[in-house]
Amino acid sequence: MTPDPAATAPVPPRTPGDDADWWRQAVVYQVYPRSFADSDGDGLGDLRGVTSRIPHLRSLGVDAVWLSPFYPSALADGGYDVDDYRAVDPRLGTLEDFDAMAAALHAAGIRLIVDIVPNHSSNRHAWFREALAAPPGSPARDRYLFRDGGGPDGSLPPSDWQSVFGGPAWTRVTEPDGTPGQWYLHLFAAEQPDLNWDNPEVRQDFLTTLRFWADRGVDGFRVDVAHALAKDLTEPLPSAAEIADAAHGTHPLWDRDEVHAIYTEWREVLDSYTPPRTAVAEAWVHASRRARYAVPGGLGQAFNFDLLQADWDAKQFRTVVTDNLAQAAESGASSTWVLSNHDVVRHATRYGLPPGGGRHGQGQDGVDWLLTGGTSPVLDAELGLRRARAATLLMLALPGSAYLYQGEELGLHEVADIPADRRQDPTFFRSGGTEVGRDGCRVPLPWTADGPSFGFGDGPAHLPQPAWFAALAADVQERDPHATLTLYREALAWRRRLQGPEELEWVEGSGEGVLHLRRPGGWQSVTNFGPEPVDLPPGILAVASGPLEDGRLPADTTAWLV
Ligand code: BGC
Repeated sequence: MTPDPAATAPVPPRTPGDDADWWRQAVVYQVYPRSFADSDGDGLGDLRGVTSRIPHLRSLGVDAVWLSPFYPSALADGGYDVDDYRAVDPRLGTLEDFDAMAAALHAAGIRLIVDIVPNHSSNRHAWFREALAAPPGSPARDRYLFRDGGGPDGSLPPSDWQSVFGGPAWTRVTEPDGTPGQWYLHLFAAEQPDLNWDNPEVRQDFLTTLRFWADRGVDGFRVDVAHALAKDLTEPLPSAAEIADAAHGTHPLWDRDEVHAIYTEWREVLDSYTPPRTAVAEAWVHASRRARYAVPGGLGQAFNFDLLQADWDAKQFRTVVTDNLAQAAESGASSTWVLSNHDVVRHATRYGLPPGGGRHGQGQDGVDWLLTGGTSPVLDAELGLRRARAATLLMLALPGSAYLYQGEELGLHEVADIPADRRQDPTFFRSGGTEVGRDGCRVPLPWTADGPSFGFGDGPAHLPQPAWFAALAADVQERDPHATLTLYREALAWRRRLQGPEELEWVEGSGEGVLHLRRPGGWQSVTNFGPEPVDLPPGILAVASGPLEDGRLPADTTAWLV
């Protein structure tokens, strides 16, 4: 059984059309723009850099790009602190560069999803500056969540709530007359003041932003922290302990039912385009609450992060898949599969750590929020990559859309040894260094084995790249039939060819540590999580995540049969 050479044949052009369902089984590639490709040598990736690497995306065979924030920002949180929602960070380019990038992606048959960050602006946003210059109780302050402090002189925060990145969720401002003043809420860094979504102007302005990008041809939106917009700050504010176990829908800050009224308004705008613009919620909520975000009258799709929180374990994977397909059926959306993104330890590294490794931090909902923590001396890098390749091939066999994170197609590991003085993630600073943060998965990509930043740009990259990147550079893998890049290309080519209805059937009887599934048309995927090689069912081998052993499927390997 040898892989079919047709799988590596040139990819035919695919021009995006008016198919309203294009997203349902799309493969979406996340570009974290500051770390993707740097066209001007300033060490930060930029939009022209993205455009220059479209041939890579096209040969990979992805259907869409999700572009993380590229807006003007002081980068207090990697761009998720937005100064202006309808502009491009000058260090990343101009609106013309954006239009050129969108046009080039579309010409290559690749759609474009942009990140929108509605829970908070940056503290440099014109609104926040205005709020600071205006008195308490003013309309300018009402766009944010200002409150008087506690204690006789207001010097205590209004509540003891903690920010997701560590430290208090309230920061005190200095009033225009120089006296210590009110406090504002920030669920994340102090540079990310939370907006007041009860304010009609805030609501209207985001509708304008949606139209602004949709009019420029953006095909969809990834909605940051979609579950936090609606808040109940009725005083007296409860303490953190009082709300720790709040029932679903009743927590003052997270996943309140009222949030969906916002998305009903958004959906009207999104549906006014042809094809309707898509939206996917980043909502770290209990699985039973996810469908509310994903319904067609809401955002239309919601991330499930269950796969990236699962250990390398057949039972856990099967439960995650079964449960999420049931939820997708309930909401009418397709499911979303993710193994890596810019917030978590890369999956090649997670799977090379003991179970639960690389997992740090709990969200307010009791849901693991960040899987940070970097690597540790117990990392088995080879095992991690073998499992990561197998997990990816399994994920790509599932009905629904699959999200890939830049660099995973190169088999990159987390970069663990970033010196403290080069770290950027606010998690690192706000936790006093006890959480290493997310920089390790955000290190600029190696495109070539040499060059000042491995082909990322003409100068040093904004985060230090390790020497081991050279061996994993895209140009090195180009020539290697066993490379992870080759595997991704073959898998995506096969997926496009085999894709049918969103149905999956488990095939029983292969043993405890084996997941065997069948898709319409007879496409089968078999993953061996166990330690010993297993027999493959009859069929023609299309692609495998690693070499077979005497025709058998070895440990930590997935194979597709047709
Ligand atoms: C993004 C993070 C960001 C946070 C605050 C998210 O969940 O994915 O990268 O730090 O929202 O905007």
